[in-house]
Amino acid sequence: MLGKGLLSRRRFISAAVGGLTGFIGPSHAGNPIMSESGNSDSPDHREMNPRLFTFVGGDSGPWVVQRVDPVVGASMSPVSRLSVANGGVPELPRGAVWALRGVTSNVRYTTRAEVATLSARQVAPGRPDATHAALIPIKKTAAWWDLPIDERRKIFEESSHHIALGSKYLPMIARRLHHCRDLALPEPFDFLTWFDYPSQAAESFEKLVAELRATEEWKYVEREVDIRLTRE
Ligand code: HEM
Repeated sequence: MLGKGLLSRRRFISAAVGGLTGFIGPSHAGNPIMSESGNSDSPDHREMNPRLFTFVGGDSGPWVVQRVDPVVGASMSPVSRLSVANGGVPELPRGAVWALRGVTSNVRYTTRAEVATLSARQVAPGRPDATHAALIPIKKTAAWWDLPIDERRKIFEESSHHIALGSKYLPMIARRLHHCRDLALPEPFDFLTWFDYPSQAAESFEKLVAELRATEEWKYVEREVDIRLTRE
């Protein structure tokens, strides 16, 4: 059961993430635990999905926020700390300003050969020497989502070389992609991209994001916020 205080904190948090886009629809503004279809999406239910990750921005958590930069579209409220939970966070901590949720999923565009290359090179986030991290939430345009999947793949790889480009930076940079459109409740972004790396890779990471942002794929990005983090 959600307390009154928690409900209003959730509404506040939603507004902080939505920024100028005002993503909270009237049907959800006062009832954050029912999905549009009317299915129950209780905190208990969400907590059980092992693919779910929750990123909470506020004044607590192991990650120190160095900057919150709007790359395209509205920014998000600045926060001093970030915590990352594998699962749901039904009781957001006092001091939380926003929370973003996403689930890991199967690949959509990656070929067998690319999966093999990635598997041979990539490492999972969480290495002890990965003291730097980036949380980059991204929303793509309606024009992107209107394309059939084969045309999206062409833009993603044949024209933008996303995987080929990114693979050059493995295993230095570890990544995890979270999908938000697969959740029952509307989220302000389509993807939460998470990366961590040792301090020596900080310059390479800047190069990687600059390369990707210059591609055709990024013409379909309508909102992107770049949140940079460090931990002791
Ligand atoms: C570290 C190097 C990187 C590698 C190896 C890499 C690899 C990949 C792969 C394989 C996918 C496709 C998964 C699928 O088939 O569904 C993907 C998707 C994605 N990546 Fe990256 N990536 C890297 C860096 C980045 C960076 C720096 C960003 C953001 C600035 C980013 C943003 C995304 C997004 C938003 C998607 C989802 C695209 C969509 O489904 O429309 N990636 N990445």
